[in-house]
Amino acid sequence: MPWNPLAYEAFADHRMRPAIDLLGRVALEAPRRIADLGCGSGNVTVLLAQRWPAARILGVDGSSEMLARARARSASIEWRQAELGTWQAREPFDLVYSNAALHWLPDHATLFPRLAETVAPRGVLAVQMPSNFSAPSHVVMHELAREAPYGAHLEPVLRPAPVLEASAYYALLAGRFAQVDMWTTEYLQVLRGENPVADWTRSTWLGGLLGALPEALREPFEEEYRRRVLGAYPKRADGSTLFGFRRLFMVATAA
Ligand SMILES: C[S@@+](CC[C@H](N)C(=O)[O-])C[C@H]1O[C@@H](n2cnc3c(N)ncnc32)[C@H](O)[C@@H]1O
Repeated sequence: MPWNPLAYEAFADHRMRPAIDLLGRVALEAPRRIADLGCGSGNVTVLLAQRWPAARILGVDGSSEMLARARARSASIEWRQAELGTWQAREPFDLVYSNAALHWLPDHATLFPRLAETVAPRGVLAVQMPSNFSAPSHVVMHELAREAPYGAHLEPVLRPAPVLEASAYYALLAGRFAQVDMWTTEYLQVLRGENPVADWTRSTWLGGLLGALPEALREPFEEEYRRRVLGAYPKRADGSTLFGFRRLFMVATAA
């Protein structure tokens, strides 16, 4: 799907928090080579560079729009456009970091062992992904996407929830790493605006579905989604909307 850096960054503060929480659990003192997979517009990659200024950092992303913004942020980070499903590391990394990106890729049972192979001895694989696929924001969208007249266009692009149970990742990582630290956090985001949950999803999943619809169906689909999601996340008397957002974290350290 086409990524819009400005729409995505409108919620930068909320989106940065899990990235920072993940980074906080990486205990490496001085990694020399770091990869940020699905680096997007580089807003998290620059945090990696701030924490480890001597490291050589590679940001990988499939979106030329996101990378254009990333390049404008830092000339000392190496930015590379690549499809992560087929990306091959040219050398091992002391830290392979990925925030809010790998859930866009299918077949994690194959992907995670492949990523494990890119981690150097005593290196770290640090991943954060949403784990909120049963939340109303998501369920409402998928229900509507299956209804007529949208289903004919959207059923083929609807994917099963890509993120596995936490225990499945443990099983994939435990045999390949000396230590596996995993946790989930549900952030209770306090959002503002008339329909902020719909605005939030527009820069991610909703945007992807709209792109798969013929022009004439986009507006009615989005209007109906906005109506339903507002029912699921009503505005409170003080004008805020509470949006629970569950995230899965893993930090695996090699022997
Ligand atoms: C939600 S953004 C996260 C960006 C950044 N990591 C952050 O935390 O702000 C997801 C990024 O993953 C990238 N992405 C998704 N699927 C990808 C794929 N198959 N190959 C390469 N990049 C992909 C998108 O282009 C997008 O920039």
